[in-house]
Amino acid sequence: MKETIIRGECVRGHKIRITREHHYTCPDCGSNLDILYDYSLLKKKVSRSLFRKSGEFSIFRYLEFFPFRFRKEDYSRLQIGWTPLYHASRLASLLHLPSLYIKDDSRQPSGSLKDRAGIMALIHCLETGPKMIIAASTGNAASSLACLSAGLGTGNAVFVPKNIPRAKLAQLRVYGSRVIMVNGNYDSAYELSVRATEKFGWYNRNTGFNPFTREGKKTVSYEIIEQLNWSVPDYIFVPVGDGNIISGVWKGLKDFYYAGLIRKLPRLVAVQSSGSAAVARAFLEKRGIRPVKAGTLADSISVDFPRDGDFALKAIIESDGLAVIVPDKEILQAQKLLACCQGIFIEPSGSAPLAGLMRLLKEKKISGKKSVVLLATGSGLKDIDAVLRGSGPLDRIEPDIREVERIFRKKTRSSDLFA
Ligand SMILES: Cc1ncc(COP(=O)(O)O)c(C=O)c1O
Repeated sequence: MKETIIRGECVRGHKIRITREHHYTCPDCGSNLDILYDYSLLKKKVSRSLFRKSGEFSIFRYLEFFPFRFRKEDYSRLQIGWTPLYHASRLASLLHLPSLYIKDDSRQPSGSLKDRAGIMALIHCLETGPKMIIAASTGNAASSLACLSAGLGTGNAVFVPKNIPRAKLAQLRVYGSRVIMVNGNYDSAYELSVRATEKFGWYNRNTGFNPFTREGKKTVSYEIIEQLNWSVPDYIFVPVGDGNIISGVWKGLKDFYYAGLIRKLPRLVAVQSSGSAAVARAFLEKRGIRPVKAGTLADSISVDFPRDGDFALKAIIESDGLAVIVPDKEILQAQKLLACCQGIFIEPSGSAPLAGLMRLLKEKKISGKKSVVLLATGSGLKDIDAVLRGSGPLDRIEPDIREVERIFRKKTRSSDLFA
C-alpha cells in the first residue's frame, strides 16, 4: 500500500494520524478511533451516477469512501455486499406499515453482515504487512474472517467463547481457521486476543479495537440509500451488541450526507435484548455505558461490555434516534414471523430489529406512515437449536396415503403461524 495519510479522531475528540504502526486505539486516552475524511474533496469527486457507472455490484462500488487505496482485483474473490433490499409486503400489511423494507445481509459469503468489516480489516492487514490476522468473536466475525481469509489464503486464528453455536464452529472448522476456544465468555476471549496481538505482533480485527471494521460496515447504508433510489427512510432498525454495526450504519449515512449525495438523515433505532442491554440502558437513562452480566439466546448480541458502545451511543443521539429493549421471547417470535411471512430465515440477533419495531408500533411510538428499514444481519442457519426447540411437534406418519389424508383433515389454524 502506498503510504496514504489516514487521519483519525477518538470518541473524546483527540485527533491522531493513523499509521502502519499505530492503527488501533487512541494513544492519548485509549478510546476507539474513527477515520476522518475530507468531505469538501469528496463532494467534488463523487456523484450519484458515479457508482452506477462503476458497474460494480459489491462493496467495491464505493472505493472513493475507503480510507486507503488498493487494487480491488487483488481482493474481490468473493461477492461481498450488494445484498437484497426487499419490500416486505406481507409483513407490511400485517403491521399496517406500507413502507417496510428488509436489508438481507444473511446473503453474504459467510452468512452475516460481518463480511463487510472482515474484508476491510483483511485488506488493511495485507497491505500493511502482517501475515497473520486474528479476531475474538461471538461467532460471526470469526466465521467471516475464516471464510474471507480462506478466499485469499491468509493465515488466521480466532478466539471464541465456549458457548459458540455449533454451526458457527462448523464454519470455522471447514474454512480451516486456527480455532482457540476460550474457557470463558466473549469478553474474556476479546481480552486474550488483544494480549496476543501485543505479544506476537499479529494483526487484530476485533470489533471496536480496529477502526477499519466500521469502514466496511458503513457500506450497508450506501446500498440501502441507492436501493431505495436515493430516498432516505425515516427509520433504520439495527441490532446492537458491541455497537459497531450501528456506528457503521451512521457513518455511512453521514458520508453520503456530507458528500452532498442525500439531503436528510434517517433516525436510527438501536434494538437490544433485555439480557444484554448496556447501550440501550445508557441511552434511555441518559448516562455513560456500564457493563452488564449478559445472558440472551441471541448470541451475537450477547456482550457484557460493548466494545464500540461510545460510538454507538453517539450514533443514536446524533441521529435523534431511539433505543428499545425486547425480551428473548419477542425476538424468537420476530424470527418466526420473518421466516413464515417473508421467507427470510434470520438468526435471533438479526431478528431483534423486527421485535423492536413491533414493540414501538404497539406502544405507538412510531406511526404507520413512516418508512422503515430493518437490518437483518445474519443467517438463521447459523443457530438452529433455539428454532427447533420452539417449533412444536411434527407430523410423524407411516408411509401410507391414508395417513396423509388424516393429518390434512385436522384443521390448520392460521393463527398457529404467528403463535
Ligand atoms: C448477526 C449479528 N447481528 C448483530 C450483531 C451486533 O453487532 P455489534 O456487535 O457491532 O453491535 C452481530 C455482531 O456480532 C451479529 O453477528
